[in-house]
Amino acid sequence: MRPLLISRLSRFTAVRWRPGVPVVTSPAYLFSSAVACAVLSLHARTASALSTMALPSSVREISFHLNNPLLLSATTINPGEKTFDVINPGSKDGKEVIAKCRVMGRSDAKNIIEASAAALPAWRDGTTCLHRSKILTKWSDEIKDNMEDMATIMTMESGKPLAESKGEVMYACSFLDYYAGEALRPTSAGGGFIAPSTFSTPEGTPRGQIIAINEAVGVTAMVTPWNFPAAMITRKVGPALAAGCTAVVKPSELTPLSAIALCALGKKAGIPDGVFELVVAGTDSTPAVGEEFCSNPIVKKISFTGSVAVGKLLARQSADTVKKVSLELGGNAPFIVFDDADVDVAVQAAVASKFRHAGQTCVCSDRFFVHQSIHDEFVSKFVAAVEQLKVAPGMNEGATMGPLITSNAAEIVRAKVEEAIAEGGKCVTGGSALPDVGANFFQPTIITEVDTESRIWKEETFGPVAAIRSFDTEEEALEVANDCSVGLASYFCSQDLSRVFRVAKQVETGIVGVNTGIISTASAPFGGVKESGLGREGSAMGIGEYLETKYMFVNA
Ligand code: SIN
Repeated sequence: MRPLLISRLSRFTAVRWRPGVPVVTSPAYLFSSAVACAVLSLHARTASALSTMALPSSVREISFHLNNPLLLSATTINPGEKTFDVINPGSKDGKEVIAKCRVMGRSDAKNIIEASAAALPAWRDGTTCLHRSKILTKWSDEIKDNMEDMATIMTMESGKPLAESKGEVMYACSFLDYYAGEALRPTSAGGGFIAPSTFSTPEGTPRGQIIAINEAVGVTAMVTPWNFPAAMITRKVGPALAAGCTAVVKPSELTPLSAIALCALGKKAGIPDGVFELVVAGTDSTPAVGEEFCSNPIVKKISFTGSVAVGKLLARQSADTVKKVSLELGGNAPFIVFDDADVDVAVQAAVASKFRHAGQTCVCSDRFFVHQSIHDEFVSKFVAAVEQLKVAPGMNEGATMGPLITSNAAEIVRAKVEEAIAEGGKCVTGGSALPDVGANFFQPTIITEVDTESRIWKEETFGPVAAIRSFDTEEEALEVANDCSVGLASYFCSQDLSRVFRVAKQVETGIVGVNTGIISTASAPFGGVKESGLGREGSAMGIGEYLETKYMFVNA
C-alpha cells in the first residue's frame, strides 16, 4: 500500500527518496483539502486519520522511515524560511541531521497563546469532565496504536535505546490514563466541590454555608526537556486538559519530533485546535519564547522541567504577572547502602537508578554512600552488573545504554571523570569515551574514593558515572547526603524497618526510593524540595497545580 500511496501523492507533493527510506513531503494545507482526501481515500486508515487531524506544519526533510508518516507529515522548506536541525545523538559523528523544523519565535508564541485563550471557554465551560476524560483516553490509545513509530522517533532524536523509548511511550500514556480518571473525581475538576461546611463568625456563631469550588486555572504554558520527550509533556498536559485548562508547550529544541507526533495524535483523538498547541523554537529563539510565556498576562500558569538555572530565570520572569509556577528542576541524588542492606537488591537498584537513559534523568542517583563493611562486596557486584550493559546506538538490537545527548554533554562528563581521578578517585570500570561507537558515547563508569570537593560529587552528573564513597555511621551518611542545595530524589537500601522510617524522614528530598532504583509512576506525587523546585506532578496533587479554588459564602 505504501508505494501506491506515495505515487498517488507525488502528483501533489514533492516526494524524495533516500536509499531504502521513503520520505513524503507535502504542504500541510493539502491534508485538509477535498482533493487530498479523495486521493487518500484509497487508504482507509489514513483517510480517517486525515479527516480528523489538523497536521503540524513545522517538520521538514525527515530522514528515517515511519509506518505512519502522518505523525511527522513533512512540508517543503520555503525560500528564506529559517529552520533548525534535529540531530541523531547516536550517529557515528554525533551530527547526523534527521529532520529540520521551522523556527518558531516570540510572535508565534504570542499568537498561539491568543489562540489558546480563544479556545479556553469552549473547552473549560463547554465540555463536561466526562468528555475531557474520554479525549485523554482516546489520545492515549492513539499513542499506543503508534507505539513503534513513537519509540523510533524518540530514539532517533534522544538516543535512548528503543526498548527504553517504548517504556517511555507507555509512561507517557500512563499520565493520560491517570488523568482521564482523575478528571472525574468530585474533588478535582469533575464535580468541583470541596467539602461544604458551615461558616463561623469570629464569635463562634455558626451561620450559612461555605462552598468551595475548583476551577481551571486558564491558559497554561509549559517548557519541557529532551530527556523525556513525550512523558514530560503528557505529565503536564494530561492534568491541565483534565482540569479544563488549555496548554501551550515549548518542547526541547533537541527533541521536537516526539512532541509534534504527540500533538498530531492528540488532534486525531479530538483535542480541539488551540487546546493543546506547540511552539517549536530553535536554540536561538528559545529564550524569547520563554520570556513571552512568562510575561504574557494571558498565561496563568507556567510549568517547567529542566535545569535549576533556567527554572530560577522563569520564576523571576513570571513574578511580574504573578503566575502560578511549577518547577521540576535538577537533583544530585544520594544512594545510601546500609550495612543491613540486601547487597544484590542494592546492586539492582543502583544500576536501574544510575544508568537509565545513560544517567540523564533528574532522578538518577549520583552520589553513592556504601557502608564500609559491605563496600568491597557492593562495588565488585556493581562493577560486574554494569559491565553487562550493551552500549550502542539506540536502534541497535539489544542496546541497553545509548549516547549522551550532545558532544558538549559528553565532553563535560569526560572532564568531570578526569578531574575526579586526578583528585584521588579510583576508576574501577569505564572512564573513557567510546569514539568507535559514536562521538557522544561514554563508558558506564564507576569511581570509588571520590573526594567530596570533586565536581562529580558536588554537581549533578547527567551522565553514566557512579561516584562512590564509604561511610561508617548513619549520621555521617545523612549529613553528607543533605549537604546539598538541591533535593529531588534519594535512594537507600536497608532491611531494618525502624531505620527505613527514620532515614526517610531525615533525608532532605521530595522523593525517597527504599530498596528500589525506580520511583517514577503517574500515581505518585513527583517533585523536589530546596532548589529542586516547586509543586508536584502525577497523582491527585498533579491536577491541583492546574486548579484554583474559589470559596463562596452563602449567607442563608
Ligand atoms: C526527569 O528526569 O525530569 C523525570 C524523570 C522521571 O519522570 O522519571
